[in-house]
Order: sequence, then structure tokens, then C-alpha cells
Amino acid sequence: MTRVVVIGGSSGIGLATARLCADKGWEVIVASRDPDRAEVDAEKVVLDVTDAAASRELFERLGPVDHLVSSTVLRVGGPVRELDLDLARRAFETKLWGPLAAIQAADVRESIVLVSGVFAHTPSPGGAATAAVNGATEALVRILAVELAPTRVNAVCPGIIDTPLWSPLEDEARHAMFERLASALPAGRVGGPEDVAHAIWLLLTNGFVTGTVLGVDGGHRLAAP
Ligand SMILES: NC(=O)c1ccc[n+]([C@@H]2O[C@H](COP(=O)([O-])OP(=O)(O)OC[C@H]3O[C@@H](n4cnc5c(N)ncnc54)[C@H](OP(=O)(O)O)[C@@H]3O)[C@@H](O)[C@H]2O)c1
Repeated sequence: MTRVVVIGGSSGIGLATARLCADKGWEVIVASRDPDRAEVDAEKVVLDVTDAAASRELFERLGPVDHLVSSTVLRVGGPVRELDLDLARRAFETKLWGPLAAIQAADVRESIVLVSGVFAHTPSPGGAATAAVNGATEALVRILAVELAPTRVNAVCPGIIDTPLWSPLEDEARHAMFERLASALPAGRVGGPEDVAHAIWLLLTNGFVTGTVLGVDGGHRLAAP
């Protein structure tokens, strides 16, 4: 049976991906700090991806896997002059260096999918750290696709997706933001986690796609709201 590890599979895009893979009959391993909150037919493993030793231990125990997906994130925002650089560094540990340590530790036979984000392409005030970590993720994908071949390495680049990532915003503010964005986007709506999961599925299963960053943003890059 095809085995996939989804780091960050307890919520949002990662959870939708884990569910889709389970629905397709794959064996799914969800790894995150609090995996038990995920309602999905999967093995659940506690992992803080910033702990490289823990990643090594996990992948030593698992042995070869077919696919690895990482969709972790630590939210950080704010105007450049006031940006909390310690938090920004932790965002890099969570989304870039931690997953890279997992990739180093893992024996992945088929493909790896990372998740970047549209703010790497459309400068949004307050989004410097987000732009930097997502841009770095996309650069990493290209070199990994070359170095780790024949294992394929790709990324999806989501636009604004309605996931628990936005739950720190009050309901009213969040809905207002989604509505404003929806009216500006060619797709006429913000995305759902399943939109991105389907794109991840394409990258996992199309054996001729590697080194690619697939935009899943409802046209955000064409008409940056
Ligand atoms: N939602 C959007 O609008 C949007 C837009 C562009 C890009 N993205 C990107 O899409 C990806 C998924 O985001 P999302 O919206 O699905 O967010 P989410 O619902 O908050 O999910 C984030 C996941 O990351 C895991 N995680 C965070 N820190 C971790 C750590 N140290 N170790 C292991 N797991 C960790 C969380 O699990 P635990 O809490 O259980 O550890 C959770 O499963 C992220 O890379 C994000 O930057 C999202």
C-alpha cells in the first residue's frame, strides 16, 4: 500500500490532504505537535518539526515511505521596522529548516510536496517574513528536485485559504476580509483546504512533474487584492 507522511496533517490544508489520501486508500501518517485533534483515518504521531532529532527518530522507525508532504506554518506578521525577528526565525524553523531536516532524515521513494504561499509573489504590507519564508520554500523545491532525483519534489502555492490559520482573527473581521478578497479575485471566492489538497494530490501522483510550484490561488497573482 502507498504510504504518505503528512507533517502538519492535523489542520487545514494538511488535514484535507491526509483525508484525501486516506480516501484514495493510501496508508497515512499524520505528524504534528497535536495530531490527535485530526479526524482522519491515519496513524497519528507527535512531532515538533523544529526538533531534528525527533524527525530522525520518526523516519528511522518508519523506514521507506512513498510520499512526504509538509504544510507546517508559524504565523508572523507586522511592518518591517517592527517585525519580531526572533519570531520570524522561528517561522523559518517551522516551515523551512524543520521540514528540510525531516527530508534529510526520510527515505522517500516517490515524491515530496511542500507548501509555499502567494505572498512570496504579491508584496503585501506586513508580510515580509511570510514572503521570505515562502520564497525560500520555492527556491528549495527546485534544488531538491535536482539533488534528490529521481524522487520528485514540488510545491503548491496557495492564495488565501479558509483554514484555522486565520482563526486568531475575530469572526467578523475574518468574514469581512474573505468577502473583500473574494470580490477582488478572478475566482470570486477564497479557497478551501480541499482546493489545495486536490492540487497536492496531482503533484503526488503525476510521475512527470518535478521542480514545479503550482499556484492554487483563484487568480490572486493576476489581480492582487
Ligand atoms: N491558509 C492560507 O490562507 C494560506 C495561504 C498561503 C499559504 N498557506 C500555507 O499553507 C500551509 C498550511 O497552512 P494552513 O492554512 O493549513 O494552516 P493550519 O490550519 O494552521 O495548519 C498548520 C499545520 O501546521 C502544524 N504545525 C505548526 N507548527 C508545527 C510544528 N512545529 N511541528 C509540527 N507541526 C506543526 C499544525 O499542527 P499542530 O498544531 O498539531 O502542530 C497544523 O497541522 C502553511 O505552510 C501555510 O503557510 C496557507
